[in-house]
Amino acid sequence: MTGISNRSKFDGIHVAPSILSADFARLGSAIEEVMDAGARVIHFDVMDGDFVPPITIGPLVASSIADLVHDRGGVLDVHMMVNRPERQIAEFASAGADLITFHYEATAHAHRTLGAIHELDCLAGIAINPGTPVEAVSELGGMADLILMMTVNPGWGGQAFIESSPDKVTRLLPLSDGALIEVDGGISAATAGPMAKAGASLFVAGSAVFGADDPAQAYSDILDAAKES
Ligand code: DX5
Ligand code: ZN
Repeated sequence: MTGISNRSKFDGIHVAPSILSADFARLGSAIEEVMDAGARVIHFDVMDGDFVPPITIGPLVASSIADLVHDRGGVLDVHMMVNRPERQIAEFASAGADLITFHYEATAHAHRTLGAIHELDCLAGIAINPGTPVEAVSELGGMADLILMMTVNPGWGGQAFIESSPDKVTRLLPLSDGALIEVDGGISAATAGPMAKAGASLFVAGSAVFGADDPAQAYSDILDAAKES
């Protein structure tokens, strides 16, 4: 259940289904369904009831799905919406996380935490809220494998995409120093295209995938929209 230490599984354009919108009573088969459709990045939203109001899932659930994801050639993309995330990164690494992303706004020690995630043999990501300027990550791009730019305010699935987000990616790109750009919130077949055009390559989609009648088809439609742009 150990993580990966290189970025090759994130090469190219990926849609990462967010299990936050899945039916937790049948979580394993929901993941299998999107992986059978081609998904290789499974997005895992951790909320602590403090950084954001809701409480969701933690290392116990991560470790229960990690083998299923890894056995099918996938990676576990852990998005920590947690204050002082440095206290919990080791637990997520041993639960099988491949990529651990935490929020810039949630710690005084973003640079040190990125290094600590690498020492745990995981890829390291830094996330920024819609109200946080892109310049926040200008000293961190070289340390981060990925920058997650929120396209809604974190905390809930199913919110409306913030329309100014493509312009923000355009401003973020020159500061990213080679880090991948992931976008999260309100991503659908309609919004993935403009975000891909602006420079994002990893598209988190929760309600647009798991809220659809046919999640496999919805996954493919978002991927096509991102690739066609
Ligand atoms: C929200 C989470 C997202 C969420 C996105 O704070 O970080 O990953 O699952 O959900 P949708 O795609 O429905 O906006
Ligand atoms: Zn997320």
